[in-house]
Amino acid sequence: MTQILPPPTATETAEYVQDRVDEGYFRVNRAALVDEQVYEAELRSIFDHSWLYVGHESELPKTGDYLSRTVANRPLIFWRATDGTVRVYLNTCRHRGAMLCRVPTGNARGLSCFYHAWTYASTGELTGLPDAGGYGPDFDRSRFSLRSPARVESYRGFVFCCFDGDAPDLATYLGRAADYLDLVADQSPEMEIVTGTHEYAMDANWKLFVENSLDGYHLLPLHRTYFDYLKEAEGSYMDPRQETRAEDLGTGHAVITVEGPWARPVARWRPAMGEENREYIEQQRRALDEKFGAERGRRIAETDRNLLIFPNLIINDIMGVVVRTITPVSAGRTVVSQWTLATKGEPESVRSRRLDSFVTFQGPGGLASPDDNEACESCQLGFAAREEVRWSDISRGIHKERTGEPFVASDEIQQRAFWRQWQRLVAS
Ligand code: FES
Ligand code: FE
Repeated sequence: MTQILPPPTATETAEYVQDRVDEGYFRVNRAALVDEQVYEAELRSIFDHSWLYVGHESELPKTGDYLSRTVANRPLIFWRATDGTVRVYLNTCRHRGAMLCRVPTGNARGLSCFYHAWTYASTGELTGLPDAGGYGPDFDRSRFSLRSPARVESYRGFVFCCFDGDAPDLATYLGRAADYLDLVADQSPEMEIVTGTHEYAMDANWKLFVENSLDGYHLLPLHRTYFDYLKEAEGSYMDPRQETRAEDLGTGHAVITVEGPWARPVARWRPAMGEENREYIEQQRRALDEKFGAERGRRIAETDRNLLIFPNLIINDIMGVVVRTITPVSAGRTVVSQWTLATKGEPESVRSRRLDSFVTFQGPGGLASPDDNEACESCQLGFAAREEVRWSDISRGIHKERTGEPFVASDEIQQRAFWRQWQRLVAS
């Protein structure tokens, strides 16, 4: 049986992160990546109060479409109701708790619980109550509608929920990160999630994979196979001298920006995209300039970004757009779910190239994701020596916090931004 320990005190937690800009170092106590009581504290202080990604509106194209999702350990139903609105419900029957939706996806005007057949409309009301007379005249069905998380809001099609009714609204929560979501959403008049979910797990703490998803300098050492392939197959290579940027976007959100060597289906043609797609992609590029002006058009099309929406949504907008959630299920186990976001209506040849790039680099069996898994799991194994080697270093580029020099992707301001917000919430 798992023992639930009391949450660490503020003094104990304060020691999980040592943030010493003046002395030139930032480090994290490895216990913060191993201890189950830290995980329990994170659930209460971070996941119960943050806005968390549920899904994208395009995943529910028709009324009645639904998907089951797990967010902050809660089972949810993501459902386009018969009135056309997108709803999020807690996937638990109001009778005795059975999960109402027990399949990953479907379409229905209502769902009936498999246990005693209480039935709910997609708008949440309890519509079917077998042998209703048995409940007597005082039974009020309206008190038994499906429950939703305290807050559900959408930004540019990205639907989030929050279990804290007192949290700020979503746009306020996103703050400066909203601008980067706009750069993704503005890639075409309509964006859609391609049907299908990648789901995989790793024996490592979730924060390691958040760090990894924003890590600007592991690419060449860790993903050498991929870059060798890219050079051979496409003639592209990563130039270490290229200009990059890293930004702390406030309240834990962060981004790194790179101009990578690969083709982008929106809208950076490279020979690897094929001559047959050249005209379409260049036309998309011109359309962006016309709609947003040359500067913003260039920003949308030419720059790649890895964005963290605190605490656990990553958007890797690189050779395709990957939308990824990183969900802890214990201190040492993490589930990753990811989808790809694409231009709606793009030609089949572009779509197929996009999907190919996505799975080649970031698919669970691709040329990069297994490396990242392996690296995170290897760190977790190394933490067994944490009594002797207590701290992980996250200091790269910290001197620039004193001098005001711009940060590049190979600095670690983005990881420090995450950890500083972690520290504020877990220690408060
Ligand atoms: Fe759902 Fe009884 S638990 S009808
Ligand atoms: Fe990687």
